[in-house]
Amino acid sequence: MDSKPSTSRLLLLLTLSITFIPAAVFAASGEESSSWRSLLRQVVRNRWTSGGGDHQDAVEKAMMKEITLKNYCESWRLNVELHNVRGFGAVPAECTSFVAKYMSSSQYKSDVQRATDEAALFLTSSFSLAGDGRDIWVFDVDDTLLSTLPFYKSHQFGGSAANRTLLEEWMAKEKAPAVEGMLDLYHDIRRRGLTIFLLSSRPEHLRDATDGNLIKAGFHGWARLILRCDEDGSGRSVQKYMSEERKKMVNEGYRLWGMAGAQWSSLLGHPKAKRTFKVPNPMYYIE
Ligand SMILES: *[C@@H]1O[C@H](CO)[C@@H](O)[C@H](O)[C@H]1NC(C)=O
Repeated sequence: MDSKPSTSRLLLLLTLSITFIPAAVFAASGEESSSWRSLLRQVVRNRWTSGGGDHQDAVEKAMMKEITLKNYCESWRLNVELHNVRGFGAVPAECTSFVAKYMSSSQYKSDVQRATDEAALFLTSSFSLAGDGRDIWVFDVDDTLLSTLPFYKSHQFGGSAANRTLLEEWMAKEKAPAVEGMLDLYHDIRRRGLTIFLLSSRPEHLRDATDGNLIKAGFHGWARLILRCDEDGSGRSVQKYMSEERKKMVNEGYRLWGMAGAQWSSLLGHPKAKRTFKVPNPMYYIE
């Protein structure tokens, strides 16, 4: 005899259990219909694992009907933030208008605000200043302090992969506004006595433009602005570059209290800060 029962044998067993188990439960205990329903649900669920056939298809179709395009795009956006969706070259075509709406919405403002509130809460509850200047906070620049939204507005909100040349030309104009909400957090962190390091994957040749743009947008008083050597364009991933720069800081004796960035690659890797704060950004993904 086979050690594994055949499919038809399984179906027969399931049919028998559907027929007899509920009857047995009623007879034995007179349970109320709610537990009878949950038992039936369990049986039906078990049946699905061996192929639910038409009934399962019908239920799944009904469930699908509840999913609107807005649901679909909101799930996509949330899963980008959760780092479940990775490595996307461009925003899915069907979601570009959703992303456009989100980036201009009060929801985006509120999401950024919540991240900054949590960062401030963390410092209030857990930070103590040593007074030796070695307590640091690391900020990424693009879409963390300075918004690239005006650039992406004219490039389908991430609906096509950004042209690096055009993006850098835009950055050189020093027109990026501050990310609303981050300005307050930045100055709050400064007032608490932390030393601020800015760590960006912008290239070194944009140093003057980056300094200039940050000042115009209302930022000042950072201790370092670390940019990528112009020769370092290829090879190392952003995550590797950023974590190697943080390693240097730790080796110099700095204590990394917190980091804020709009890309997972700015936040992952070692060494880590005590806390990291991800700023929402559904427009692009950098490895
Ligand atoms: C980027 O834009 C520049 C200027 O319009 C163009 O010359 C170049 O071919 C573009 N690069 C890509 C990869 O599309």
